[in-house]
Amino acid sequence: MKTLLEMITSEMREAFQKAGYDEELAKVTLSNRPDLCEYQCNGAMAGAKKYKKAPFMIAEDVAAQLKESSSFEAVDVVKPGFINLKLDTAFAADYLNRMAASEKLGAEEEKEPKTILIDYGGPNVAKPLHVGHLRSAIIGESVKRIMRFKGNNVIGDIHLGDWGYQMGLIITELKKRKPELPYFDENFEGEYPEEAPFTIGELEEIYPAASAYAKEHEEYREEALHATYLLQNGHRGCRAIWNHIMNVSVTDLKKNYERLNVEFDLWKGEADAQKYIPDMVQMLKDKGYARYDEGALVVDVQEESDNKEVPPCMILKSDGAALYDTTDLATLVQREEDYHPDEVIYVVDKRQELHFVQVFRCAKKTGIVPEDTKLEFLGFGTMNGKDGKPFKTREGGVMRLENLIREINEEMYKKIMDNRTVEEEEAKRTAQIVGLAAIKYGDLSNQASKDYIFDVDRFTSFEGNTGPYILYTIVRIKSILNKYQENGGSLEGIRVLPAKDEYEKALMLQTLRFNDVMDTVYEEIAPHKICAYIYELANEFNKFYHETKILSEEDEERKAGYIALLSLTKRVLEACIGLLGFEAPERM
Ligand code: ARG
Repeated sequence: MKTLLEMITSEMREAFQKAGYDEELAKVTLSNRPDLCEYQCNGAMAGAKKYKKAPFMIAEDVAAQLKESSSFEAVDVVKPGFINLKLDTAFAADYLNRMAASEKLGAEEEKEPKTILIDYGGPNVAKPLHVGHLRSAIIGESVKRIMRFKGNNVIGDIHLGDWGYQMGLIITELKKRKPELPYFDENFEGEYPEEAPFTIGELEEIYPAASAYAKEHEEYREEALHATYLLQNGHRGCRAIWNHIMNVSVTDLKKNYERLNVEFDLWKGEADAQKYIPDMVQMLKDKGYARYDEGALVVDVQEESDNKEVPPCMILKSDGAALYDTTDLATLVQREEDYHPDEVIYVVDKRQELHFVQVFRCAKKTGIVPEDTKLEFLGFGTMNGKDGKPFKTREGGVMRLENLIREINEEMYKKIMDNRTVEEEEAKRTAQIVGLAAIKYGDLSNQASKDYIFDVDRFTSFEGNTGPYILYTIVRIKSILNKYQENGGSLEGIRVLPAKDEYEKALMLQTLRFNDVMDTVYEEIAPHKICAYIYELANEFNKFYHETKILSEEDEERKAGYIALLSLTKRVLEACIGLLGFEAPERM
């Protein structure tokens, strides 16, 4: 169904046209003076020049056309020429009832669904997940859900970092510790063991040890680089170890992401793109896109309009090795072949922006992706600690994701136990649900591109603009709805009624904004606007709740009307948190 803004805009267009003015002027927006009106149209101001007429007069002409409209309770013209609108509450109630009758709350899906690939997560295999990967997972998951909600065919790809130097380091360290393993015997021709020569716990210890050692010992570093080279050139033993590393890590990663409520459709990685490199390089050479620069193969991507230098895309190093640019280009070749996406969205740390500018330009220029494929970089800022510096442990090390989650859950558990409404067991489970909401909402409520401060106390608070506050509100509504049903009420066949007072109307107005908000969120890829919206919605509900006797209302029809509004508000809140990637518990 049409969004509310679309409906009243088309009415306004008609009014402009009937009054003899260009209907293009009839843009309606949410009011920026909520004390005066709910919606507004400033078109008369813009028309003044064109019609050489005072804006006030134009506005009056238009308003006269809206006299009979059943959509508005008030159409006021104020100097110098604003048209201020207040919605008729029966009209609002009707809109809400139609939303309630729709499975998707009235949301329109894309008429021509697009195939959208989202590259997010991007963990590096065998290295522990750290908080830096948290943002990509959280934002990417929400973006995926938003795109899907609008009816697109969306593919989430984790794009594992599984092909780099870290693999060479692990192989080298393993050889030092267990030289007797068959992988290191060049004459071994049999089948390698099926079982990995390490557990995930050992693997997590091996990598940092090797990485630290290599920094101090040049020879060891050379060996690790050589092992990386061997792996990348198909050495059987190295490849077998690589397979073990992958199996063990991916199992562990899956567990971690599951805990975050993050789900990927594809578990592809840098390694999968390697086989596309030779043909791609050949093409770049044959078509004259690539040139040699001091032995390295590069593609120029500088454009005339640049006011900064954009260095060439690096395709091959002088020793013939592929680089980060190469892998991302080859991954695009692969994605084009497998999915022919209309759009590829990369959710990556904004410090990698230049890399993506280079890759996108190169991919477009050389025809790796068609001209009309949209390549989009959604760069996010840094998650900082309270000291304003990148988030660290108390000891100053890199905070591991699991530890961060544990810390939040413990804090949440304490708070829930303080409330003393649930048993210990339930409190533990609830703490996990609410803890995840605290983390995700804390992150997503900031515009993705901005840095933000990860503040455990604030994020876990039940008050203010937080995940727990939103959940608390949902739980409160659930409890009212349950009581209503326990007392014999039914949620079927009830209807929202015209508002009885300003509090009810305010809640109605906020609830019916859902589809307009979703359109903006979708167009701008802006999950933070969902947060801003539900925070206001929760506030309006809580104000209404404090001002209204809901369950003790004597007029049964009115009571049912309240319940219908609450039930819809709950559905909207739940749909929104679902798009953010978390859910509400039954109680808390
Ligand atoms: N693994 C990379 C990192 O940790 C992120 C990958 C981002 N995606 C991409 N297609 N390059 O920095």
